[in-house]
Amino acid sequence: QKKEVPKIIISGGPGSGKGTQCENIVAKYGIKHISTGDALRHHVKTGTNLGKEAKAYMERGDLVPDELVIGICKAEMETTEAKKNGWLLDGMPRTKKQCEALEQMNLVPNLFLLLDVPDQVMMERACGRRQDPVTRKIYHVKYKPAPTEEIAKRLIIRSDDTVEKMTNRIAQYHKNIDAVSGSYTDKMVVIDGNRKPDDVFPDVASAIDASMAKK
Ligand code: AP5
Repeated sequence: QKKEVPKIIISGGPGSGKGTQCENIVAKYGIKHISTGDALRHHVKTGTNLGKEAKAYMERGDLVPDELVIGICKAEMETTEAKKNGWLLDGMPRTKKQCEALEQMNLVPNLFLLLDVPDQVMMERACGRRQDPVTRKIYHVKYKPAPTEEIAKRLIIRSDDTVEKMTNRIAQYHKNIDAVSGSYTDKMVVIDGNRKPDDVFPDVASAIDASMAKK
């Protein structure tokens, strides 16, 4: 009999801590992390046609067209790693159409995690975020400073982490989240993300363990 693998969607507003929790989830459960935001930024950086098309939307903090992200997700899900070890989908679905596309691809999660964080906290987190271009690790000027001077010097700021763009990203989030979470009510676990990352993770891990035990 084929072993069931974890199939997790992690959702929450911009700066709610999805990427941070995903690092912990991958370390503990060894599943394939698929971040549509990271994949899109990679396309933009490498100048692919898809990246050229997505760039302007991302720069404004708008959602990129559904068919672009659906294509990215499909390609990532077809990897052996995702099929064998399970998947952690981060940043998708963000619209009802994306939910429907996942269903059509038979990508049904056994858990939908929603990180709940107030808007003003998400704003402060995103505006202070820094990323290490070498290790891809995420830091924060106040909450998670770089561990060495050498790392601190090479950190970069995401171009959509400004007050103006975050205001739009937060608005986009509120516009769409009910339609998205409404597709997964029976799988949904809402987690208070307005705590330290190490205090949030035990709840995330419990929800994953419980969803696996149900099968
Ligand atoms: P995406 O990359 O998905 O960005 P996002 O959803 O806006 O989320 P972020 O990456 O900003 O935040 P996060 O929740 O991962 O938080 P993090 O852990 O880094 O999307 C970017 C763009 O791509 C979109 O605007 C859109 O244009 C496009 N896009 C992507 N997917 C799409 C889709 N499906 N459809 C259409 N368009 C799509 O944490 C943030 C900061 O806070 C960090 O500095 C971290 O160190 C700190 N921090 C984290 N947790 C805590 C904590 N508990 N306490 C204190 N600080 C914390």
